[in-house]
Amino acid sequence: MNIESLLEQLRNIFGDRLKEQEPLARYTSARIGGPAEALLSVSSKEELVLVMQKLWESDVPYRLLGGGSNILVSDAGVPGVVVLNQARKVHFTNSHTPSVWAESGAHLSKVARQAGKRGLGGLEWAAGIPGTVGGAVVGNAGAHGGEISSSLILAEILHCNEGQQFWEPPRFEFGYRSSLFKRQPRQGVVLTAQLRLEHKSVEEVEATMQEFDEHRRRTQPRGPSMGSMFKNPPGDSAGRLIDAAGLKGTRVGDAEISEVHANFFINRGKATAADVWSLIQLARQKIKEQFGVRLELEIELIGVWDEEQKQL
Ligand code: EPU
Repeated sequence: MNIESLLEQLRNIFGDRLKEQEPLARYTSARIGGPAEALLSVSSKEELVLVMQKLWESDVPYRLLGGGSNILVSDAGVPGVVVLNQARKVHFTNSHTPSVWAESGAHLSKVARQAGKRGLGGLEWAAGIPGTVGGAVVGNAGAHGGEISSSLILAEILHCNEGQQFWEPPRFEFGYRSSLFKRQPRQGVVLTAQLRLEHKSVEEVEATMQEFDEHRRRTQPRGPSMGSMFKNPPGDSAGRLIDAAGLKGTRVGDAEISEVHANFFINRGKATAADVWSLIQLARQKIKEQFGVRLELEIELIGVWDEEQKQL
């Protein structure tokens, strides 16, 4: 099926929730990126399943977009269909072993805070993390020693060939900021995730979240960015290396290596993806020259990039 007939079908089902040539910058935390050929917002797990099945039948290129953090969208935009995941239902089970079932488009930080208000901890580390539950599972998000893979009990996924399934954590082959679906995005999507919680006092959970929040405010910049640009190399920190190379404050166009934390590249206004890309290359080259370390991207490049760029 070609893209025109697919879009016609989607328009019949979703009406004006299907937008054509929709600029993506506003859907990203960095506020950067050209237009999606088509952008479709889905607001439930069932809608996500329906759309994914149509996309897989059609062979039209697609991308799933959650919170828009941790990605750099090319200036030329994204061909095919971008699916904006706004499936956000959340259900807490406050039994002997408490947990939360969240649809993959739910904001992880909101889930963590809602849990806290119920006297349920275990996700304190996530209260300041941008992005959705699905994005966090796929990228194995983490901070302050916590990681989503350690909280995951079960996830309901849609596999491109095998349909809806429940996966336990080992099936995801989690690594540092990585999983099977991050390495092979076309295999499937996360529909819902059940996360482990623990009974605590509301005060205790909120005090820990506040402590993490203060740490983040001290150590991380506030402006629009993609979050950590590079993964930490084994035994070291990408931020420390970029800082030690004297690159803080370096600017290309409106993209700037943060003075606060060197692994954050900030959009100072009208930064383009090309500006950010130049800074990425500069940082990688300097770190390779000075420390012999190859920095690996943590963010994902979305849209029109050449294969060499995507290999980084
Ligand atoms: N450092 C510098 N200069 C800098 C930045 C950091 O010298 O400009 C030094 C710090 O002083 C510290 C070390 O580098 O000694 C590590 O820095 P930090 O504690 O800020 O942690 P990080 O390793 O840079 C990691 C995660 C963050 C997470 C924080 C807090 C990665 C790539 N980064 O940062 O995750 O929020 O720990 O737990 O894993 C993300 O993945 O998007 C992210 C923000």
